[in-house]
Amino acid sequence: PAAKKIKIRDIAQHIGQRVEIQGWIHRLRLQKGRAFIILRDGTGFLQCVLTGDLANAYQTLTLTVETSLYVFGTISKLPEGKSAPGGVELAADYYTIVGLAPSGKESFTNKIQEDLDPNLLLDRRHLALRGETLSAVMKVRASVLGAVRRVYQEEGLTEVTPPCMVQTQVEGGSTLFKMDYYGQEAYLTQSSQLYLETCLPALGDVYCIQESFRAEKSHTRRHLSEYTHIEAEMAFISFEDLLDHIEKVIVKTVAYVLEDPVAGALVKQLNPGFVPPKMPFKRLQYIEALDWLNENGVPNEEGNPFKFGDDIAEAAERKMTDTIGVPILLTRFPVEIKSFYMPKCSDDPRVTESVDLLMPTVGEITGGSMRIYDKDELLAGFKREGIDPASYYWFTDQRVYGTCPHGGYGLGTERILAWLCNRFTVRDCSLYPRFTGRCTP
Ligand code: 4AD
Ligand code: MG
Repeated sequence: PAAKKIKIRDIAQHIGQRVEIQGWIHRLRLQKGRAFIILRDGTGFLQCVLTGDLANAYQTLTLTVETSLYVFGTISKLPEGKSAPGGVELAADYYTIVGLAPSGKESFTNKIQEDLDPNLLLDRRHLALRGETLSAVMKVRASVLGAVRRVYQEEGLTEVTPPCMVQTQVEGGSTLFKMDYYGQEAYLTQSSQLYLETCLPALGDVYCIQESFRAEKSHTRRHLSEYTHIEAEMAFISFEDLLDHIEKVIVKTVAYVLEDPVAGALVKQLNPGFVPPKMPFKRLQYIEALDWLNENGVPNEEGNPFKFGDDIAEAAERKMTDTIGVPILLTRFPVEIKSFYMPKCSDDPRVTESVDLLMPTVGEITGGSMRIYDKDELLAGFKREGIDPASYYWFTDQRVYGTCPHGGYGLGTERILAWLCNRFTVRDCSLYPRFTGRCTP
């Protein structure tokens, strides 16, 4: 009988029907008289059972994991208690091999054994991606990006695509990737923020999802050389508005991901203890955080008690966030440790209208601030940082042609995922991670 070509995700609508599935052998168990294949097609997993001649044929006995196949057969619902993905099974009556994968030393299973040197596994990332955990994280990633777009659309922000090749810095010269641009010096963008700011008078509130690049010399759990940066910028807002907005975007994004039948189930599987964040988030000023750290005996980078002006580095930040155990909007960082574009607070000129969102297990997932919107004040910021403002004429013009109070933030996609999917490092949340010493595959 004719067989309809279907995807595994749609299998429940075809109980009792003969279908054709195309996919790869995820797992394989050969028994006398029976062969069990867990087939994977990127939309799900399906148990296929081969019996009789089909199971005993030489071809079946030499099947290997990752071989690609067309399988034909009838779908049935399994009785309670018999376990298979989705509680269904395909009784195969015919199959064709498309590409037979190697066996023995070159077999897929040998190539990506979990106890291999992590570096070797990264060399084999193209194969490792087929594993259940990595592919699940990538599915959740797609859902997060979709959810973020939906939230921004609901909040009235317009999506734009700023350039990756630029001639200005945003977050400090030390992490710039330099490139030769037809004989001129150019850089890979560290942040699209400055470009987003120029869009406000044209398009109103805007956002982008764009790669950002940072030459981070140190190896950490949460730094990549290339990451997917979700950034938003809004006009005529106050610092309070910015904090409220960040909170709302995170809460709604997580809610949409958890509602998504595929991604929601995967988050539960990867991170069974995940507690969706609730509004309002805890708000803590930098100065209050220093008190907390000192009272709890967490030292600064030199091993001393924290004093005003110290950077709260990764370890201390995470210690504090994990102990407090809820999302924290950490605000009002000192001028000296923040970027040239951040305005001083009107009630305390030592600190800025800046915010980091910290999540338990990861720490900072978002960095944002209001922006200096007075031209002279901005030029003083450039001077303090030793930046020549000449190549920023288009950015300073923003302050000439109808300036306005505005602010925004950047969200690290891989960091949201590390938090949501309970991954130890952001490297597990990037398709092909880039960090010091790795640009392959
Ligand atoms: O805190 P950052 O450096 O802020 C900015 O770039 C602002 N210009 C954004 C803005 O206001 N539009 O970076 C923002 C976020 C961080 O909170 C972190 O989640 C992520 O980007 N991030 C990184 N993620 C992975 N690897 C790195 N090397 C990262 N650097 C920053
Ligand atoms: Mg930051």
